[in-house]
Amino acid sequence: MAHLRLAVLLSGSGTTLENLFEKCAGGKLDAEVVVVVSSRADAYGLERTRRRNVPALVVERRRYAGTDEFSAAIFAAIEPYAPDAICLAGFMSLLRIPEKYRDRILNVHPALLPAFGGKGLYGHHVHEAVLRAGCKVTGCTVHFVGEKYDSGPIVAQKAVPVMPDDTPDTLAARVQAAERELYPEAVQLLAEGRLSVKGQIVKILPE
Ligand code: GAR
Repeated sequence: MAHLRLAVLLSGSGTTLENLFEKCAGGKLDAEVVVVVSSRADAYGLERTRRRNVPALVVERRRYAGTDEFSAAIFAAIEPYAPDAICLAGFMSLLRIPEKYRDRILNVHPALLPAFGGKGLYGHHVHEAVLRAGCKVTGCTVHFVGEKYDSGPIVAQKAVPVMPDDTPDTLAARVQAAERELYPEAVQLLAEGRLSVKGQIVKILPE
């Protein structure tokens, strides 16, 4: 499949989304963002979306009792835009995934999964935990989204060094630079139909 219609789900500042916008505009990613949905009404990612004249919707997590109701509202919101795939971009809630989107939803996580994933391990919490553990390398992971936090078949990973004088902020900056390369590359593989998923294993098919 070429030229993916992407829905993007976020909860925060939207730097991951901004990078996807830039890669699409620069021809590095054969995709277009057709709708963005935020789980928070105050997410700055909504502002970034409006600036690009892309529909920016809000489905607030706090208005729904459980994952089932919330997920149904999210998928109902994106349905009219007929996305081929969904990218999570700093989206901080669990989803119940409809069959038609199985292996069509990607996430980027700021660590080398399965280390440093799971509930409560997001954003700067991840980098703090990596530093506390004394790791010498960390990185980022792009994976298909499963039904538990940070689970699902791994598509691609990129390692970065941890420096002796790193703070959570300096480490986050290095990992995010790696995310900005890896995430669009993985989405491009999906656009080219080159990801084959069997159980937990993703194979990258030749061009
Ligand atoms: C990104 O670093 C992403 O890897 C991380 O949140 C940040 C979102 O930044 N995601 C997770 O921790 C998912 N478990 P953004 O809101 O500016 O795009």
